[in-house]
This record gives sequence, structure tokens and C-alpha cells, in this order.
Amino acid sequence: MVETQRTGKSVTRSKGPDFYGLRFIVVAGKGGVGRSTVSAALALSAARRGKRVLVAMCNSKERLSYLLEVNPIGPNIQAILPNIDAVNMEPKSALEEYGMLILKIRALYRFIFENRFVAAVMRGAPGLDAWALLGKAQYHVREMDERNRPRFDLVILDAPATGHGLDMLRIPRVIMEAAAPGLLRREAEVAWELFTDPNRSGICLVTLAEELAVNETLDLHRAFSQELKLPICCLVINQVLTKLFAQEEWTFLEKLSSDGIVNPYGRFLIKCSRVRAQREALQHSYIQRLDDAIDAKKYLLPALFTAEFRRSAVENLSAVIDRSA
Ligand SMILES: Nc1ncnc2c1ncn2[C@@H]1O[C@H](COP(=O)(O)OP(=O)(O)OP(=O)(O)O)[C@@H](O)[C@H]1O
Ligand SMILES: [Mg+2]
Repeated sequence: MVETQRTGKSVTRSKGPDFYGLRFIVVAGKGGVGRSTVSAALALSAARRGKRVLVAMCNSKERLSYLLEVNPIGPNIQAILPNIDAVNMEPKSALEEYGMLILKIRALYRFIFENRFVAAVMRGAPGLDAWALLGKAQYHVREMDERNRPRFDLVILDAPATGHGLDMLRIPRVIMEAAAPGLLRREAEVAWELFTDPNRSGICLVTLAEELAVNETLDLHRAFSQELKLPICCLVINQVLTKLFAQEEWTFLEKLSSDGIVNPYGRFLIKCSRVRAQREALQHSYIQRLDDAIDAKKYLLPALFTAEFRRSAVENLSAVIDRSA
């Protein structure tokens, strides 16, 4: 436990388990906030620590290969960097592969998934596609290699944006409640045991210090932690502006008037400083709101102003995560 001292009040918060000791991290958040970037940065950090990492994407318009400057990533697991494999899961092949992985016998798989009647029932089952992706991703946590060691130390799921990501994580419980005893239910139970274990799994919430993103993150946090009771391993606030001014300078700058300043550059600089001070104060208030509501390790990733946001930018963010881990 660590003590955080704030204006007049002290908050006790748990530091949580070793982030890199986790086996399964779900990177969740609003569309466009940087889920793929954070997945990539976490993968680089973990790989540097010698972990074998799988980054699993959910049938997305994958940008990871662009970000990391590697070959395009398809539905088959491929090695992209030392210690890092990646896959862009696609429901049909994920279901087939996952079905095969757990059933082992192709004939049995065919009977279950390709049988005309069973297939009709399965096709109608809501969430089956989502379960195929989630099921496959979590399966790789328990997958063993030929030497009977886990094939991956860490699986990072680059989850679909907000509502879709949440619905995906709701599926195992729905299966546990609705499915008849059998293979499907057993699989969902095993997956749920993994997802709810804070020593093995965690949700990494990614957000921006902006109104809409913060509101969505607070809703998402409530749903994950209160409704689903899933452990939140960290909160990543992305694209944070570096502080140019100290907090006490904000009010001073916001009130600073350029009246009477003759030099046009002087007036311009005052205007810029005022706008920047307002932005920093606003950003601070959003970070404060998140901090008050979410009791998890927090990472602030700087906004990087690079013409090409690619590998070196992600390396940069990964180094920031390392330094604050
Ligand atoms: N810290 C940062 N500084 C500057 N730009 C960033 C930063 N993080 C991400 N970006 C930029 O923000 C954009 C969105 O990032 P990313 O693709 O990781 O988001 P996403 O949440 O995965 O989006 P989607 O919902 O489309 O999957 C990218 O174009 C990336 O270049
Ligand atoms: Mg993405």
C-alpha cells in the first residue's frame, strides 16, 4: 500500500501485483485514444524484460504493423520482433482454430462446428464471434510449447473500442449462466477464472485527458470493476501535454493582460502562454477526476509531436512506462 498525499486528504491505494507478472492484459478504451499504441508499448516493455509476448488484435484494421514497422499482421500468429508475436484474429478462423485447440480431434470439431444443425444453432448464438476471439486469446495463455512450457508469458488483447470491448468481456458470464453443462461452459468458466484473478489478469484502461474520453472511461471503469468485477491493472492517460507552467502560474497567466504591451511579439507570447495555461489547467482537472475515481496504477504518456508516429515514438512511450513501472 502507498500513501498519496493531496491537498489536505490522504488516499490509501493498493499498488497491485507486478504488472509484468501478469499473464493476460486487456487493453480497453474509447476508439482512437491509443489502445494499439499502448498495446505495442506494453509489448516492447515486457519483451525487453525477457517475456515472450503475444499481441492479439480483434479483427481490426490493424495498425500495429505500421506502428512497429513490421510486416502486415494476419490471422495466423507470426513473430514480429524478438520475443513478440502478433495476430489479427478473425472470427471464423479463430473459432475453427480455437475449436480445434480445445477439441483436439478434427472429426469432433467438424461434428460440433460444421454439422448443419449445430452450426445453425451456433450461428444464431449472440456473441459467438466475440467469444471466438476472446476464447482464442485466453487460450494462448495456457498454451504449452513442445517442451511443455507456456508458449507465451503474456498475452495482450488489443480489445475493440468501448462498448464492443465491454460486451466481449461479458460473454463468458453469459455462457456460464445460459449454456448447458459441457465443453463450452467449462471453457467459459476457465476463462472467467483467469480474467478475475488479479495476479494473472488485468484491464488496462487507456484514455485521453479530455471530456468525452474521460466520461467514457469512467463508465467503462464502473462496468468493468462493479458489474463484471474484473481487476483493473492500470490506467494509461495518453497524449498528455508536458507541463510548461507550475500550477500557481496558471492563474497568474490566465489573468495576465497584454494591454499596454507595445511589442507585438510580447503580446503574442502572452496570448500563447494564456491559452497553454488554460489547456494545462483543464488537463489537470481531467486527470484529477480520473485519479479520484480509479484506484489503479496510473501512467501518463506524453503527447509526442512527430511527423511520423511510428516505431521510435512507441519505443519512447514504452520507455516512459518502464520508468514509471
Ligand atoms: N502519445 C501519443 N502522442 C501523439 N500521438 C499519439 C500518441 N498515442 C497515439 N497517437 C496517435 O493517435 C492515433 C490513434 O492511436 P491508436 O491507433 O493507437 O489508437 P486506437 O485506440 O488503437 O484506435 P482505433 O480505435 O482506431 O483502434 C494514431 O494515429 C497515433 O499515431
Ligand atoms: Mg487500434
